[in-house]
Amino acid sequence: MTSIEEITRKFGTPLYVYEEDRISDNHKLIDGSIPYQNKEIHYAVMCNSNRAILEIMKQLGASVQINSLHELDLVKEAGFDSSQISFTSTGLDTESLERLVQEGVQVNLDSVEEVEKYYRLNPNGNFGVRVKMKEDIKLPEGHTNSPKDSDIGICEKDFERVKEIAKQNGCRVNGIHGYLASNILASEPFLHSSDYLVQCARQFPDLEYVNFGSGFGVPNKPEEQRFDFEGIGQHYSRLTQELANYFGRSIQLKVEPGRSLIATAGTLYARVMNVKQLEGKKQIAINAGFGEFARPRIYGAYHYIEVVGKSGETELYDVRGNTVLQSDFLGRNRQLPKVEEGDILAIKNTGAYGIVMASGFPGKELPKEVLVTSAKQARLI
Ligand SMILES: Cc1ncc(COP(=O)(O)O)c(C=O)c1O
Repeated sequence: MTSIEEITRKFGTPLYVYEEDRISDNHKLIDGSIPYQNKEIHYAVMCNSNRAILEIMKQLGASVQINSLHELDLVKEAGFDSSQISFTSTGLDTESLERLVQEGVQVNLDSVEEVEKYYRLNPNGNFGVRVKMKEDIKLPEGHTNSPKDSDIGICEKDFERVKEIAKQNGCRVNGIHGYLASNILASEPFLHSSDYLVQCARQFPDLEYVNFGSGFGVPNKPEEQRFDFEGIGQHYSRLTQELANYFGRSIQLKVEPGRSLIATAGTLYARVMNVKQLEGKKQIAINAGFGEFARPRIYGAYHYIEVVGKSGETELYDVRGNTVLQSDFLGRNRQLPKVEEGDILAIKNTGAYGIVMASGFPGKELPKEVLVTSAKQARLI
């Protein structure tokens, strides 16, 4: 059973549907774009932590990047070994750090204060340093979280202090981590941030890995050009090889893609509840809104929308949730084939930061999730 009409009839709406084949294609693309051999792709679990998705990632040979003890439990249950897990977050408390140390999970620490907590819990242990990105790295227009305003990571001026604490307590800074921002389609910012990261990396003589983070963008519309994974993969590979030559040993290359691995594999299907005539356009109310898919309202994110089974002449529509909230729009000013009550809309690229951010507000059940397997079977997950 593969037709979306059948799937939505069987499981109802609103419904998240994920395609296993798309996940493996995305993984293959990213993996194949990095020629450097000693590499790990850490799937950012915060994007979508469904057990079935984690199991697919495991099967594909991915490692995982986590942000919380809850995510640690989830990835352990899905069968990941501690050696395949890395923890990168901000605001780590002693209790969480203690558990991560006990489990032998590699951590990337975010502040000098976290380094001080770490050595007390794990003298002689290894930790990575999360670098505060250089402030002059420019992000494309429209990005709000620029490195200038970032509160993430350890500043270069504090590296000496970190090294001193490590040395005094028998610890080794064995890795370096840099993350710029999410969903950047241009290559330029990644070229700059990775150049800066390896410049920082040279300052840590015990280095074993360099983790370039993620933020690889996903195009909003089908006709837009995709992210240049090949160009970035070549660049990261060259930089890591240079680091390896500099230290005279192999250095591991890590990346932490989340959205670019899973976003395009997911679609949120919602039913049209009613169509209302406004001046100059129509407004469609669907049975999903901010509580089912939050990105449009909290980030102003654009998500491409299609009408299932319809094409041809279009009209201008706004698409909103059927909630009491003002401005609960999933899309505005969209040209869509004539929409009628009962139609199903497909909100694309919703595999990442979709269900994990869904609250069910106001007072609704969370949408169900279905996986269409590589064998074209649809099952609830
Ligand atoms: C440290 C870290 N790694 C990975 C990611 C995943 O980024 P993306 O989903 O843009 O690929 C994030 C996202 O915020 C992050 O903060």
